[in-house]
Amino acid sequence: MPAHLVIVANRLPVDRVELEDGTPGWRRSPGGLVSAVEPVMRANDGTWIGWPGGTESDLAPFDDDGMHLVPMSMNAREIEEFYEGFSNATIWPIYHDLVAKPEFHREWWDAYVSVNHKFAARTAEIAAKGATVWVHDYQLQLVPQILRELRPDLRIGFYLHIPFPPAELFQQLPWRRQILEGLLGADLVGFQMPGAAANFVRLVRQRVGHKTHRDLIYLPDGRTVRAAAFPISIDAAGFEELAQSEAVGVRSKAIREALGNPAKIFLGIDRLDYTKGIYARLRAYSELLAAGEIDVEEAVFVQVAVPSRERVEQYKILRDEIDRLVGRINGDLGRIGRPAISYLHSSYPREEMAALYRAADIMVVTPYRDGMNLVAKEYVSCRFENDGALVLSEFAGAAAELRQAWLINPYDINGMKSALLEACRADPKELTRRMKAMRKTIIQHDVAAWAESFMTELSGERFAHGKTLRPAEQA
Ligand code: G6P
Repeated sequence: MPAHLVIVANRLPVDRVELEDGTPGWRRSPGGLVSAVEPVMRANDGTWIGWPGGTESDLAPFDDDGMHLVPMSMNAREIEEFYEGFSNATIWPIYHDLVAKPEFHREWWDAYVSVNHKFAARTAEIAAKGATVWVHDYQLQLVPQILRELRPDLRIGFYLHIPFPPAELFQQLPWRRQILEGLLGADLVGFQMPGAAANFVRLVRQRVGHKTHRDLIYLPDGRTVRAAAFPISIDAAGFEELAQSEAVGVRSKAIREALGNPAKIFLGIDRLDYTKGIYARLRAYSELLAAGEIDVEEAVFVQVAVPSRERVEQYKILRDEIDRLVGRINGDLGRIGRPAISYLHSSYPREEMAALYRAADIMVVTPYRDGMNLVAKEYVSCRFENDGALVLSEFAGAAAELRQAWLINPYDINGMKSALLEACRADPKELTRRMKAMRKTIIQHDVAAWAESFMTELSGERFAHGKTLRPAEQA
């Protein structure tokens, strides 16, 4: 059946995994993209094209709880060069402020081009005439242009879930112009933050030579492309409801109990990624313990690290570093039955996350750079009793909205230590004042509002700009 709304993302919302008994099964995919887009899709009867993980090649389209899923297969070489290579070892670090050093390899770029062609071709096959196609994230930046060439009848939107870097960093990319042109195939290009949209428009003007005015880009073929910010969010009401459920309440108590009923529980939940600042945060916490500011008999830091991109070199190194650090901190500062850090390298279902959020007194979110960070928003939505403290990096997109968090600079260990202490010692009135304000923001700007504003803008009337323009010059 031809589809009227198509989501194109590198990953499907479900991941092909091997179950304990050795048979193949499905599990929810990791990351912010899936948690944000999934509820929108369920509500809209859309079709989702993406990779289910693994190298299986004969998966047929199937339905999952109101979503039509179209699996795209990838062979081992594509996984290595397109996914682990160009997407996650070239683009990812460049777009995150060079927190790690990006690698440039021409074969990786070739794989990126060919996989983007495959995704675009499959989309062109299944999209109905005049359908709306919404392409997601940094793995698929060439799809809008390729798809427009194949199917000029489509309305095409693109959304970037991660930061878009300033020109000074972006222009290191040997393929910078192709990427900008790829994105310009869309009618609407969405970003998390206004600064990211401005970076993009400036680069298009400088590097591709198109005329621009504020958030509009005028193309020589008569099209106008808009680049704007649409800060992403979560299903706030859904999370709150889950947090309020009896099962989650019981589980949250059990977690506290298992931890020895400490007076304070600190919590970090992140994909195990070097952008997240896990190392710095654990060090800051350990220094507070060592200095006697926090007592290991009275507090514990629960760090959940969700396995991610485990075959990429930088991620392997990070895992070893965190393993060593946690071992050292617990060896030096823990007591029998009282680890300083309770470290879990695993992913958990939403219910367990909600129970952890409910159990935690201080949520610690300290990325060096993050498009938005939905974990911070999930914590806030689960604190229905208006208590709990959020310590949040000012370099996460969420900091623009969650102004009442304890905002920190993750590069400043002393500043982070002070904020952790303040958040830990804050009186209940102060916590309530801050949490109430943050909850109001999250409830007003939930994921449905995000999707609705993007879709409304994308479906708006479009007129040719009617300007006479010279073709873009080679920059
Ligand atoms: C971030 C990205 C997503 C990605 C997710 C998980 O949220 O924006 O595009 O899917 O991380 O990473 P993975 O490499 O496992 O897909």
